[in-house]
Amino acid sequence: MKLIGLTCLLLISAWAQNVGPLEQAPAKFANKKNPMQGNESASRAGAKLYARECAACHGSEGEGGEKAPPLKRAEVFQAPPGTLFWVLENGSLNRGMPSFAHLPEPQRWQIITYLQSQKPADHATGK
Ligand code: HEC
Repeated sequence: MKLIGLTCLLLISAWAQNVGPLEQAPAKFANKKNPMQGNESASRAGAKLYARECAACHGSEGEGGEKAPPLKRAEVFQAPPGTLFWVLENGSLNRGMPSFAHLPEPQRWQIITYLQSQKPADHATGK
């Protein structure tokens, strides 16, 4: 019995290390609405912020880079905006994604609006 418990524990911790920040966001954040959803000028402002804050790691078109995974993916496109908000707030510090809690909230929503206005590239929809 003890062995089974230990095996479960090991499996769970292996799994926990493998989940990206999108899966780690507490469920209640999924209900947080993006006040700028679909707003074109917010999306344009977000594109500029993205170029300044995110492109160095995630690529100028969200195609991903050496330091970070692509963002032009269905998981990001379809994620609840509040989940992305949580990721920007908290980052994934021990895996190289910084926190952007220093950006004012409206700027974070602009970036999220921009990210979710981009259709995921066909080649990048799978994991
Ligand atoms: C210093 C490099 C770096 C910068 C700058 C950066 N990120 Fe990241 N980001 C990462 C890394 C590395 C990961 C993967 C973390 C992990 O798997 O735990 C990540 C993960 C993410 C994820 C989760 C993706 C997924 O599939 O789980 C999102 C969303 C994200 N970043 C958005 C952004 C946005 C928006 C910005 C700009 C405001 C940004 N990142 C800036 C390195 C960076």
